[in-house]
Amino acid sequence: MAVEVPCADRGVGRGPDLVRHGIDRGRYPPQVGDETVIGLILILVYAAYESSAAQLAWVLILLLQHPRWLATVTAEVETGLPEKLGGTTTAELHRLENLGRCITEAQRIRPATSMLTRRAVADVPLGSYTVPRGWTLFFCPPVTHRDPETFPDPDAFDPDRFDPQRDPAGRAAAALLNLGAGSHACLGGRFAETEMKLTLAVLLRQYTVDLVEPDPRPAGGVGIARPAAPCPVRYRLRTAEKGRTHDAGSSADHDRVHR
Ligand code: HEM
Repeated sequence: MAVEVPCADRGVGRGPDLVRHGIDRGRYPPQVGDETVIGLILILVYAAYESSAAQLAWVLILLLQHPRWLATVTAEVETGLPEKLGGTTTAELHRLENLGRCITEAQRIRPATSMLTRRAVADVPLGSYTVPRGWTLFFCPPVTHRDPETFPDPDAFDPDRFDPQRDPAGRAAAALLNLGAGSHACLGGRFAETEMKLTLAVLLRQYTVDLVEPDPRPAGGVGIARPAAPCPVRYRLRTAEKGRTHDAGSSADHDRVHR
């Protein structure tokens, strides 16, 4: 079977990227079929792109629903990053503590991962039950993330629950399952957090954004839990004046609704 997958040329000397690695059949043992390689490439795109896009949408929605936090993180990205965002380093992004906690809290309250599975390799006592060896277990982060024993007042958007001063043992963060757990936990979680921070920094610095629908709900079904469509937001360009960023108003040129 001939496999043709479009792939950006990364240039001589940079080495093959992960997709190129998959396309280059010489790198896999012969028993790995084309369908498997295609599946691996597609699942990487799905796992890396769809989940991050859905999670980013929830972070933005929750910030827009909580103006105090929106103001805090907008101030943070305005003062904590270089004027030209193109020169931003990952270290600078990781120092944005408030935005980091908002992203973590969004992953708790609106996890993009609606369900995960594990197979019991031994009998597992669970309360008054025993899960027999060989059974498949389904677990659901949108449910476990609202356990009031671990997350007091679970329906409240409270990014400070991840503040080390409030939770020095990191108990709340350790109970999050949006990125999975164990040896198969998400490999791209840190990357996803970095790209969400950078995207939000670009967005919040340049635009004033409002929700058109005040309370978007998750789309139903199994899979990545994105907001149900349509989920329109209204955005207006901000302009810099006298060294200060301010709302540019809602002129026809600047006012846009995006779904
Ligand atoms: C917010 C965004 C993301 C979410 C919610 C997410 C969620 C997950 C989850 C739930 C798993 C399964 C973990 C388990 O079974 O314990 C997983 C695995 C994985 N993720 Fe992500 N992911 C995200 C972003 C990314 C990105 C950006 C990449 C790549 C750049 C990526 C690459 C992977 C890979 C390669 C695995 C498989 C790990 C393995 O089986 O050993 N993910 N992800």
